[in-house]
Amino acid sequence: MQDQLSALVAQAETELSALASRPDFEAAKARYVGPKGELTGLMKQMGGVPKEERPAMGKLINETKTALQALLDTALTRIEAAEIAAQLGPAIDPSLPSPDPLPGTRHPLTLVREEICGILKKVGFTVVEGPEVETEYYCFDALNTPADHPARDAQDTFYLPTDAAFTNIAKKIPGEKYLLRTHTSSVQIRTMLKGKPPIRIVSPGRVYRRDTVDATHSANFHQLEGLYVDKNVTVSDLKALLDYVLKSLLGSDTKVRFRPHYFGYTEPSFEVDLSAKHLPKVNKEWVEIMGCGMVDPAVFDDVGYDSTVWSGYAFGMGIERIAMMMYGIDDIRYFYQNDLRFLRQFA
Ligand code: DAH
Repeated sequence: MQDQLSALVAQAETELSALASRPDFEAAKARYVGPKGELTGLMKQMGGVPKEERPAMGKLINETKTALQALLDTALTRIEAAEIAAQLGPAIDPSLPSPDPLPGTRHPLTLVREEICGILKKVGFTVVEGPEVETEYYCFDALNTPADHPARDAQDTFYLPTDAAFTNIAKKIPGEKYLLRTHTSSVQIRTMLKGKPPIRIVSPGRVYRRDTVDATHSANFHQLEGLYVDKNVTVSDLKALLDYVLKSLLGSDTKVRFRPHYFGYTEPSFEVDLSAKHLPKVNKEWVEIMGCGMVDPAVFDDVGYDSTVWSGYAFGMGIERIAMMMYGIDDIRYFYQNDLRFLRQFA
């Protein structure tokens, strides 16, 4: 009987490890340990075993039962794993190209930014960038913006708290107030403090204002700043440059108009209006598009440039406003929703 028990385990070992399906498994299980199975058959022979051998034999039968159960468990686990794998389908090869490749497209704001920078690069401008977290000094003070100017109001500017969460920033310059820049004009100051004239830079980037979001306002939008400093720079240089930039961008039928305005960092200052009725969907005659002017001597004083020697012009434009005109977009919020139906039109 002992030999029969060990032969049963050996046979089960071979047979169970080759099982591949659940019906085969159930059949094998019944054959080995079922009520009419082989183990039950051997147990029935216990009656013929001499009394003194019965305890040892009983122990052997229990061991055989445990061994068979372990073999059955292993086989079942293997079959279940195969079933799950079959349900999941073939293994994925991540190196294969997607069956439906969706090529990325550049965002319309990126397209317009790159186009304007490209136009300016052709006439000697270099692209520079500045930080979005700024100090009051770069954003306002050095730009000749008085402490009580409404743009500095906490209702218009996002000031960063100076509490523990921001100590890394707040400790950089003791006593400085940090904020999210409200315009890219701060880069004018950073550039002039870093280098010497002549200077000819363009600086695109994000700006932030506490505006209520609607079809034409966003609390976070994009600007592009220009600065030119040299000897004998005049208003006609500024007008010629902006005329060149806007006509290159929007076509030679574009009309450009200067209106006197006030900015603390330029004198004289202008707002620039565009007429581009040749563009589809533009129905307004004049659209205000940017601010500009001749760099105020007070700004040159702030950065240590001799204002009797150096002169210059500066300008700042909103990229969204221009992109909306160019593409006939009537709601600024489309730019930020990342809706593929919108974005893929610019492929
Ligand atoms: N910083 C102004 C704004 O955000 C735009 C501007 C006006 C920029 C005049 C300039 C400038 O460089 O000279 O509305």
